[in-house]
Amino acid sequence: MTIAPAKFVHVVYRTRRFDEMIEWYKTVFGARVQYQDPGLAFLTYDDEHHRFAFANMALLDPTGGGPDDRGPIGVDHVAYTYFSLADLFDHYAELKAEGITPYWCIHHGITVSMYYGDPDGNQMEFQVDCFADNEDANAFMRRSFAVNPIGVEYDPDAWLADLRSGTPATVLLARTTDLPVSPIRSATSDGFAAPAG
Ligand SMILES: [Fe+2]
Repeated sequence: MTIAPAKFVHVVYRTRRFDEMIEWYKTVFGARVQYQDPGLAFLTYDDEHHRFAFANMALLDPTGGGPDDRGPIGVDHVAYTYFSLADLFDHYAELKAEGITPYWCIHHGITVSMYYGDPDGNQMEFQVDCFADNEDANAFMRRSFAVNPIGVEYDPDAWLADLRSGTPATVLLARTTDLPVSPIRSATSDGFAAPAG
């Protein structure tokens, strides 16, 4: 049997926007630099030795391509769970004030998620679980994913206003409709239509 990891620990990105990337992760995650030299930087936001590392490809591979030259394959997104819907939306509001907004806000049914792109277009998902019990999440997937495996988009500003005017998180976390199916949006392009179910 495969031994599962205990927790998510770090991501390493190759970048040609080294300084801009470090600043973005400091702003968005409250991260601090643990170690940095011209070619590499290691950042963390908690007691882990590093949560992110960046390899400066402009230094390591100066003739290898331009800043937007990325292949069609690679990491699609990495995901982070927040403690509560209030935390997720307070973070949304903080970032919006910094001029950083999600490219996709989607109720997956099992999570309420916001997707962001960093300056290089690397995609990440900030989420809150809709079900306290994984068995309930599994039951939802069996019931609803045949109709909609992607999710239903929502308006983050409307939800923020609802939360701040006292709507309980439980009301927003419980998805009441499986439709319409959202397109799969992308940080760096128009995205693409969900596969037909
Ligand atoms: Fe995800």
